[in-house]
Amino acid sequence: MSRRCHVEVDSRRYELPVVVGTEGERAIDIRGLRRQTGMITLDDGYANTGSCTSDITYIDGEQGILRYRGIPIEELAENASFVETAWLVIFGRLPSVTDRNRFSNLLTENSMLPDNMRKHFEAFPPHAHPMAILSAMINALSTYEPQRQIESDDDVELAAARLMSRVRTIAAASYKSSVDEPLIYPRYDFKYCENFLHMMFSLPYKEYEPSPEVARAINLFMLLHADHEQNCSTSTVRMVASGQANMFASCAAGVCALWGPLHGGANVAVIQMLEAIRASGTGVADHVRRVKNKEAGLRLMGFGHRVYRNTDPRAKLLKKSADQLLDHLHIDDPLLEIAQELEQTALEDPYFIERKLYPNVDFYSGIILRAVGIPLDMFTVMFAIGRMPGWIANWKEIHDDPHSRIYRPRQVYTGNPLTEFVPRDRR
Ligand code: CMC
Repeated sequence: MSRRCHVEVDSRRYELPVVVGTEGERAIDIRGLRRQTGMITLDDGYANTGSCTSDITYIDGEQGILRYRGIPIEELAENASFVETAWLVIFGRLPSVTDRNRFSNLLTENSMLPDNMRKHFEAFPPHAHPMAILSAMINALSTYEPQRQIESDDDVELAAARLMSRVRTIAAASYKSSVDEPLIYPRYDFKYCENFLHMMFSLPYKEYEPSPEVARAINLFMLLHADHEQNCSTSTVRMVASGQANMFASCAAGVCALWGPLHGGANVAVIQMLEAIRASGTGVADHVRRVKNKEAGLRLMGFGHRVYRNTDPRAKLLKKSADQLLDHLHIDDPLLEIAQELEQTALEDPYFIERKLYPNVDFYSGIILRAVGIPLDMFTVMFAIGRMPGWIANWKEIHDDPHSRIYRPRQVYTGNPLTEFVPRDRR
């Protein structure tokens, strides 16, 4: 197999190396392109650009394969907890019993927020969006860690445990502030997901005891969101990290990037779409017709993906989990029926077949969150909690790389040519 490729520019031929990944993925290495040819590449939306090499996550979008550190997510979903998966994603190998216990203890010991931070919550307006609070508070956390040096894996582990644990506390506290209920302290005897549910739903006079089935569904939700290679928010984290910003600042930027409806905000948009279909009374077929006509830029939310040209493997697992959870909770959610009908209709429609649009992770995840009682504007926050290990791992990959360079794409300028400055009195 050739490991070089040739480009012809102005009748001159240049040779560029080809980089091959462990799974045979090939990329033209253009690092010498501008030096040799004076040209740059233009790739709107970066759809053909590999921004880095990475050891963390492998996706085969054609086959619908997703692996963290080489391990298929189906196996992790069956056998591992979110916390174990997080450690795997960050450190590159499954944790031993000692690693797991140590990391669990660190998560528990670091779950409380510095007491002063309560005042920050009081300063937000009553209807502040939890994603804005989350991002601001992650940045605020870094002010309690002045000049923390991260030199070893032990330092990363402590910082990661602090961030992962406190993000969960911040998320629950932002919800409590928004509903004007007292903040609930974490419990030292609860595991990661149970503790989050406890901080969300307990009241000073009434403890919330999550059932194992509910905790399992949230654990799966988090695990399946743990990483997804160079998506919009992870690329943002890497971008910020490449300027040598700290882990907290880089991940706060990731939260902002995740917020929009084409990325993490899609889990909210799916529920809004299903609600709208139900309220309209005009049925699924009519909605699909409007999407196909691109009415007002309408899209089938929770469908399509830049990388997957097949069903997102996470969607399959979440669909099964949604079915089981609703069964367990004896919930008959009309939105689940609409979602199933919508999926079926789209999968049989040439518009979606030709464009290879299949359900993605967000299509069924909202049904699970609704069933657990998570309010709609917290859905993307849940995604952010789950994605934290991936952001940390990507931050670490840049931090540990002695050859890492600042991310600084170029552009093709299309504005005015050289233009004369006109003094104020002549404009
Ligand atoms: N519904 C209807 N048409 C669609 C959809 C959709 N969900 N997604 C793509 N298309 C069409 C699009 O209109 C275009 O059609 P045409 O060729 O006629 O112009 C074609 O498919 C290619 O679309 P694209 O915009 O070039 O695709 P992209 O790779 O830039 O966008 C996407 C990927 C995920 C933003 C897009 O599929 C989308 O908007 N999906 C809905 C939002 C969503 O569910 N986002 C969550 C993604 S998964 C979680 C995450 O990573 O955050």
